[in-house]
Amino acid sequence: MADAQLNDFPSLFSVKGKVAVVTGGSRGLGLNAASALLQAGASKVFISSRKASACDSAVKTLNALPGLAPGAKAISIPADAATLSGVQHLVSEVAKHTDHVDILLANAGATWGAPFDEHPDSAFTKVMDLNVRGVFNTIREFAPLLQKKASVEDPSRVIITASVAGLGIGTIGKQGTYGYSASKAAVIHLGRNLAVELGPRGITVNSICPGFFPTKMSNGLLDMSGGKESIAAANPMKRLGRPEDIAGVVVYLASRAGAHVNGATIAIDGGAMWAKGQLNVESAKL
Ligand SMILES: NC(=O)c1ccc[n+]([C@@H]2O[C@H](COP(=O)([O-])OP(=O)(O)OC[C@H]3O[C@@H](n4cnc5c(N)ncnc54)[C@H](OP(=O)(O)O)[C@@H]3O)[C@@H](O)[C@H]2O)c1
Repeated sequence: MADAQLNDFPSLFSVKGKVAVVTGGSRGLGLNAASALLQAGASKVFISSRKASACDSAVKTLNALPGLAPGAKAISIPADAATLSGVQHLVSEVAKHTDHVDILLANAGATWGAPFDEHPDSAFTKVMDLNVRGVFNTIREFAPLLQKKASVEDPSRVIITASVAGLGIGTIGKQGTYGYSASKAAVIHLGRNLAVELGPRGITVNSICPGFFPTKMSNGLLDMSGGKESIAAANPMKRLGRPEDIAGVVVYLASRAGAHVNGATIAIDGGAMWAKGQLNVESAKL
């Protein structure tokens, strides 16, 4: 009987009363995750991206969601996550509303597609600055707020939005994403290092690796890679990612259910990454 007794199962996937920060939260996957955290019981969700109008409109949409906990709210704080001053501004503005942070989703990211021979130095720098250096700065600058209430029993959470492009090979050829793919591999490994560094301080660090989800960032690449339908057809699950796919993993990692997951890398791609390496027996004439 003791083995069957779980400690308060109904609250296992809740983030009731938690305070979250989502960079790149104004649209796309960040907005999906922010919506999920609010609906799972978070008391405050800070939405940050460069454009103030985009953050304000995301916050308006989130605060109009039905069924939020009394007092729960999204708060807009525009900031550039690619610069240290932008990250410091974000932290100081967040600190005006709360004395601690429980969940940090380091999600802001940028990509660049260009052929190898012409791949611009400036594009490589831009992508590394936001996707790697920006993520490191964001985690380091938020660490004091994340540590405030954190314990090994009830850890604070850092979730990095990486990509399957950091696990396997990204796009090569005309729209080659060399810098992007390298940046996502780098940030996954950064996450593992920080999991070991910050675990004893009561902070877990994990990376999520989405496959193709239709968003402003991916729509162009989806079109140039053959279109949504053909990419979906090549996926073992026969579809692209949906908002609920991100929502579920983020809430899991942020809730008590994910408290002992640290330094992990979770692909959310329907298994497409493995299908890329599938040996076609017919064409190989084996
Ligand atoms: N969609 C996919 O298929 C896919 C797949 C794998 C991984 N990802 C990753 O998922 C994350 C979110 O991408 P998405 O697909 O949701 O793209 P998206 O819809 O284009 O959203 C990107 C978000 O990041 C913000 N942002 C861009 N540069 C920023 C900066 N310097 N500082 C702060 N915020 C910034 C954008 O707002 P502003 O323009 O206002 O700054 C926006 O809120 C990225 O890290 C991306 O690499 C996406």
